[in-house]
Amino acid sequence: MTQQNNQTVQALQWTGSSLKVLDQRKLPDTLIYDEYNDAKGVTEAIATMRVRGAPAIGIAAAYGVALSVRQHYSVTSEWQAKVAEDIALLAQSRPTAVNLFWALAQTEALLAQTLIDPVAELSALAEKIHAEDIAANITMGELGADLLVGATGVMTHCNTGALATGGYGTALGVIRSATKRQSLAVFAGETRPWLQGARLTVWELAQDNIPVTLLADSAAAWLMKSGKIDWIIVGADRIAANGDTANKIGTYSLAVLAKQHGVKFMVVAPTTTIDWTIENGQHIEIEQRDQNELLPACYNHTDSLVSAWNPVFDVTPSELIAAIVTERGVVLNPTELTMRAIKDGIK
Ligand code: MRU
Repeated sequence: MTQQNNQTVQALQWTGSSLKVLDQRKLPDTLIYDEYNDAKGVTEAIATMRVRGAPAIGIAAAYGVALSVRQHYSVTSEWQAKVAEDIALLAQSRPTAVNLFWALAQTEALLAQTLIDPVAELSALAEKIHAEDIAANITMGELGADLLVGATGVMTHCNTGALATGGYGTALGVIRSATKRQSLAVFAGETRPWLQGARLTVWELAQDNIPVTLLADSAAAWLMKSGKIDWIIVGADRIAANGDTANKIGTYSLAVLAKQHGVKFMVVAPTTTIDWTIENGQHIEIEQRDQNELLPACYNHTDSLVSAWNPVFDVTPSELIAAIVTERGVVLNPTELTMRAIKDGIK
């Protein structure tokens, strides 16, 4: 199965009464959707990384609230309190991707209004958030591709494609759009420890007939030294008001290496990923996941001398970023001042 045009694999499928979630932990070997009927299930799907990637997490959470309203509205007069409990539960699923909190805030704002048909209205809101994310990605794909004129090679990190978003992708969307225009060597880091690059990104690109070369994360410096890449292109989980960017662990290393080797660094993210309430990246909560995701099983016992440190995001300071591409435009050399250009008019 290969994808044509802008139609990419779907991480999330809304049936109108349930949410189907592609279990990304099983890719690329098995393509299987789990079906959820309530917010508790969606919370679990996010926390266990069946669905992952900042925009996809936000969209899933919006559908989770729609399912909560569906579950409680006609059953109890206390439905709003039940939905509020479910929103609080969804908010605890993962801490770093601000799209989650943005999407939940959108649902709360709608719920605060007088609604005629809450089930239909919350469902419509989630579908709108989903559709707008795809539209933003396609716009960013073109804007980012404009920056790649003359480039012959790029490297990406983690998975920022259709699997991580409503569809098409952020950084991977730029790569999709650019490869329609020009010949481009695409390199993908494997992205330890969850291997989003090795399991998801190369699979997605192969679905689109886009050639890609996988490399070990530790080979990135040597790749840059070879002169084969002009840009590193990554997504984001949360961008502070000054452009500091939290993204998958290893992104910061790539940015430091890029500076040393004269490789430019691009972040691609919709404005739903910008947290205007924090002035810089120091305020971003970095998710720490279970040490057993890293640790060989033989050390997984209480009196073990071996432990593991497993932060799954890091923060790249804005001074290492050449461009932040959003659907509202491109910010070159991001700072608190230059970021303001895209802030105007955002609610
Ligand atoms: O832990 P994950 O797989 O949810 O992390 C995903 C990333 O870090 C992505 O790069 C980011 O969410 C941007 S996705 C468009």
